[in-house]
Amino acid sequence: MEIVFASNNEHKLQEIRQIAGDRFKVLSLADIGCDADITEDGDTLEANARIKARYVASRYGRDCFADDTGLEVEALDGAPGVHSARFAPGTGHDSAANTALLLEKLEGKDNRRARFRTAICLIIGGEEHMFEGIVDGEITTTPAGKAGFGYDPVFRPDGWTATFADASAEEKNSVSHRRRALDNMMKFLDEKID
Ligand code: IMP
Repeated sequence: MEIVFASNNEHKLQEIRQIAGDRFKVLSLADIGCDADITEDGDTLEANARIKARYVASRYGRDCFADDTGLEVEALDGAPGVHSARFAPGTGHDSAANTALLLEKLEGKDNRRARFRTAICLIIGGEEHMFEGIVDGEITTTPAGKAGFGYDPVFRPDGWTATFADASAEEKNSVSHRRRALDNMMKFLDEKID
């Protein structure tokens, strides 16, 4: 069985292929000849995941799935959320600027609770299914660690003494929001395939 992951992000593809094992073959957008930069202008993570999955399903007639992730901070009413990649004004995907702005907004606040949340939209046999993965934790007061990406240097998962950026890829991927959302989708697909 083949399934398209609506992304060309090599890092995510590797992670997903590792989790899928030989249960099914995960194809990238490049594998199906799609070089579109799909506009993610939804108001929620779910809407963005749906936009990407529907794009592939409608144009290529393929079973597919797409994901979107955000950091939701309690004291900021869930921000940056769906705007996580472009939190700092005037920048795009500037992790250092995004992280600096987050720490600035939380200065003096006691509540530093936050969570990473991933939404996955799967379209299989023309039917849509949504999956979610969450990891709860806290925003540290200073960045620590060099691994990972995005907000990893300031996110400490519950039960950890280190940030995600202090952990190896294996350690992070074993508990991450993306991993949990993928596991939920895999469970569903395993039941469907059986
Ligand atoms: P995307 O859904 O993977 O494109 O993620 C959107 C934004 O959320 C990224 O640009 C990062 O700023 C942030 N983000 C997503 N996943 C992670 C993660 O695992 N660690 C840290 N930041 C992340």
